[in-house]
Amino acid sequence: MEYNLIDGKATATAIKKEIAEEVKKIVASGGKKPHLAAVLVGHDGGSETYVKNKVLSCEQCGFKSTLIRFEENVTEEELLACVYKLNEEEDIDGFIVQLPLPKHIDEQKIIMAVDYKKDVDGFHPINVGRMAIGLPCFISATPLGILTLLQHYKIETSGKKCVILGRSNIVGKPMAQLMMQKQYGDATVTVCHSHSATLKEECREADIIIAAIGRPEFVTADMVKEGAVVIDVGTTRVEDATRKQGFRLCGDVKFDEVASRCSYITPVPGGVGPMTICSLMKNTLAAGKKEFYK
Ligand code: GUN
Repeated sequence: MEYNLIDGKATATAIKKEIAEEVKKIVASGGKKPHLAAVLVGHDGGSETYVKNKVLSCEQCGFKSTLIRFEENVTEEELLACVYKLNEEEDIDGFIVQLPLPKHIDEQKIIMAVDYKKDVDGFHPINVGRMAIGLPCFISATPLGILTLLQHYKIETSGKKCVILGRSNIVGKPMAQLMMQKQYGDATVTVCHSHSATLKEECREADIIIAAIGRPEFVTADMVKEGAVVIDVGTTRVEDATRKQGFRLCGDVKFDEVASRCSYITPVPGGVGPMTICSLMKNTLAAGKKEFYK
């Protein structure tokens, strides 16, 4: 089958341009630039790259950005104090604490401390709960980015069978919520995970597969129905001596054998990744405009 490649990079670039134009108008009419702060703990390679790209995207969108760094040995109290300070800082519209955090810090405790009105990651229980019942809120960036891609490519989701692989709080769970809701995906949703007995069978029946399990090349051709739409959220670093950095990013889908069975498929890199950051920019713009919360 002649498949269509979903270009997340180009889509994200186009959307960021639209955001930049809106910011120009806001500033021209006397408003202030949206301001995003990012908190980065330690020196994890993946997190460093994500945060660097978030800061870069802020520039592209005409936002102000602030990066706050802590060493790996930061205490929970110090990190909480930073969150409380950001909650209070008038000029900061939204902020994120890059995950994962070191093991000695209770991630949930940090997430709960963030003012939900500034929670542009959409991780606070108030935003998660509002999303689940279809109220305006900050929506987790990766699921929002995937929805945006599906819309951008005019991929029909209503009434379709959608299988989501993975049940994380950041991707799998919110993705399932959004895909089932009438106002978003309006699909029939199945969530599979590491203990699903019928995972392969479920995948074979799916019109849309969203793979977010973090296992390189887990989805193989025998799991994909002819004509399916495949969205690959995986970004595992695998060793690759031929690359300058010594690794490459590997998706959850065995692209080379799966692509020819698909109507649409996302590449890794250049698929979901850029859209995640673009969604964070959308949320930051919404925070700046006080779109969801006064
Ligand atoms: N780690 C992986 N994805 C994300 C994300 O979307 N936001 C934050 N804060 N951390 C992450």
